[in-house]
Amino acid sequence: MKTVGILTGGGDAPGLNAVIRAIVRRSMPRGYRLMGIRHGWRGLLDKETIELDRSATTGILHRGGTLLGTSRTNPYKKPEDARRVETNFKELGLDALIAIGGEDTLGVAAKLSNAGFPLVGVPKTIDNDLAGTDTTFGFDTAVSIATEAIDRLHSTAESHDRVIVCEVMGRHAGWIALHSGMAGGADFILVPERPVDIDAVAAAIKRREARGVRFSIIVAAEGAVLPEVEVAKSADLDAFGHVKLGGIGEWLAREIEARTGCETRSVQLGHVQRGGTPTAFDRWLGSRYGLLAADMVHEGKFGMMAAYRGGAFVAVSLAEATAALKTVPAELIDLAGALLA
Ligand code: F6P
Repeated sequence: MKTVGILTGGGDAPGLNAVIRAIVRRSMPRGYRLMGIRHGWRGLLDKETIELDRSATTGILHRGGTLLGTSRTNPYKKPEDARRVETNFKELGLDALIAIGGEDTLGVAAKLSNAGFPLVGVPKTIDNDLAGTDTTFGFDTAVSIATEAIDRLHSTAESHDRVIVCEVMGRHAGWIALHSGMAGGADFILVPERPVDIDAVAAAIKRREARGVRFSIIVAAEGAVLPEVEVAKSADLDAFGHVKLGGIGEWLAREIEARTGCETRSVQLGHVQRGGTPTAFDRWLGSRYGLLAADMVHEGKFGMMAAYRGGAFVAVSLAEATAALKTVPAELIDLAGALLA
């Protein structure tokens, strides 16, 4: 009997459980044994595993988070950890490993694959910034939550004649800000791909005021870039060298109030965007990715990632998917501009 490992790494995303469930349901009737690796790559370092069968994966489709737990462990940070992961892969008797994650988790998968191990990737991130696929699961849920928040902020901002800055996730890419900002009718959308022109934002708020509109909604990605300003970046780095972001909304609110005289507040949505029930789309997308990943293992398509491209589910190379991030193109930022203040 062949053994297939499954792990989930990096920040969690709604829809992870749908992927795990689909892999189990597709693979078990074909005679595979499924081994869950706990807490991402840390579980492979520590050999922390659980058996995954139908009963272990029942009732999880609608649940957020991940049944397996996750972490931001990077086994390639230290050569001895890389060796341990490779040894444990063999000692656990894994015939294949399905890694469900974003750029960091799949970057590790690509390295293991280059070292000769049978790896299949599944694209996960609420940020939607993974290349090789049109969309990652978790993104739709995050956008829905952010849009609902923007709707709620609209009515209170309007009632109080306030400017409200809504800070959403998006470290390197502004997909959540762009989509939720468009869906929620934001007046400004600030993304990491284009440096913020704070004077232009303040001037547009004043123009709105001159037209008699005394409130504004600004959606800002946490990774939005302010020229010459370092905003609330923690000194701590995670195992992949990323700083902890957060705080740009507060900084923007202070600056906007100082420049316009309009009362300005900020709201940081944070992990609310990542937690809880996945949307129907993310359950469907996660299930389709899981079915494809199981088929890829069965067909020996290793070193590849399940992808959704132009409405079709296809296998793309892990090397291609992890070579560069998928950021928001300038044309799309310009196009969205037509809808803004
Ligand atoms: O999942 C990706 C992401 O949402 C980034 O946008 C964000 O910077 C990061 O996760 C924060 O996650 P954590 O607090 O778990 O490190």
